[in-house]
Amino acid sequence: MDLFEHQAKELFAAYGIPVPRGVVAHTADEARAAAVELAGRVVVKAQVKTGGRGKAGGVKLADDAADAYQKATEILGMDIKGHTVHKVLIEEASAIAEEYYFSFLLDRANRTFLAICSAAGGMDIEEVAHTAPEKVAKIAISPLDGVDRAKAREIAEAGGLPANALEGAAELIEKLWCAFVDEDATLVEVNPMILSADGQVKALDGKVTLDDNAHFRQADHERFVDVAAEDPLEARAKEKGLNYVKLDGSVGIIGNGAGLVMSTLDVVAYAGEGFAGSPRPANFLDIGGGASAEVMANGLEIILSDPSVRSVFVNVFGGITACDAVADGVVSAFRLLEGRGEAVSRPLVVRLDGNNAELGRRILAQAALPGVELVDTMDDAARRAADLAAVGV
Ligand SMILES: Nc1ncnc2c1ncn2[C@@H]1O[C@H](COP(=O)(O)OP(=O)(O)OP(=O)(O)O)[C@@H](O)[C@H]1O
Ligand SMILES: [Mg+2]
Repeated sequence: MDLFEHQAKELFAAYGIPVPRGVVAHTADEARAAAVELAGRVVVKAQVKTGGRGKAGGVKLADDAADAYQKATEILGMDIKGHTVHKVLIEEASAIAEEYYFSFLLDRANRTFLAICSAAGGMDIEEVAHTAPEKVAKIAISPLDGVDRAKAREIAEAGGLPANALEGAAELIEKLWCAFVDEDATLVEVNPMILSADGQVKALDGKVTLDDNAHFRQADHERFVDVAAEDPLEARAKEKGLNYVKLDGSVGIIGNGAGLVMSTLDVVAYAGEGFAGSPRPANFLDIGGGASAEVMANGLEIILSDPSVRSVFVNVFGGITACDAVADGVVSAFRLLEGRGEAVSRPLVVRLDGNNAELGRRILAQAALPGVELVDTMDDAARRAADLAAVGV
């Protein structure tokens, strides 16, 4: 999960890293009120999860509250690299003497952590890295040794920071390492890390990526989730513990096991090429190993709540969960949904293979559920589902 700048700074502050005072505003009126509260010159900053905001006109200086209102009007609603600005950070303007670059990241290729530091920070760091790579220090960090004050100083020196910034930078870097480790981040970036006119080193921007795999031990990261940006169906699926990803096609997909579901998406996309409108998968949904009737019902319900779904392909390879259990699940799911007043109204193509496939097919045949078709092979089933989704296009 990527954080907004204001969230990154909230996190930095909790680790004692100096950041400017700031207030989040969703409207120009709130921006004006925030500027009044902060008093003096402020910076109005677009909050979008992408870089290069400054160059796109999403970071503007405002002289007073009235100006902050004006700048916020300009920035709110702006599109920056496909991200719409819904909120701005109103921040006290810092008197900048110098801008540096600093980050810690997970270097997957080299199986280590990396510190990147440069005295040539700011908005042109990408250009510097390209034309003068010697100005950008890259230092591998052993996870066993970590970063203490001495190491932090060594990194700042390697980045070419001037003597008067070394102590402040080392302190910031050491604290940033604590945040990086304790929060299970894969990236913490400060660009620019500034030396202010009064000699302080501060984080003027912040980018943080948290490792979602650590969610189980970072329960309070929940507060950073951008609920507004979540797809409503994905949010509902998550509540029900389903592994669901919304896609933009019209063939609903249910399978057991992530690998099988992935290949089902491929096969359906390929089969769809042959039909009017080239139907494509509408979602990824893995019901996992022990697919009970309830899981099947919840899965079907989520998929059928998507109005763009025209047909559903249930692709199951019976293993530990045998096909008869899955077939029972489909039958009960139909009853359950009917009971909830949401009777299945779109065609379902079912392919069962593996453990107890024969029995599973018999259960479904006997149940004679409306709109349910049994197809023997994955390819044929994908073609049939695509055909059903193409009808009437
Ligand atoms: N609080 C502030 N006070 C004074 N100047 C600021 C402040 N915040 C940002 N700036 C100036 O605006 C520039 C751009 O801001 P910032 O780095 O936050 O956004 P950005 O352009 O999106 O950066 P990135 O491309 O790294 O995401 C900074 O390099 C700095 O010169
Ligand atoms: Mg920046």
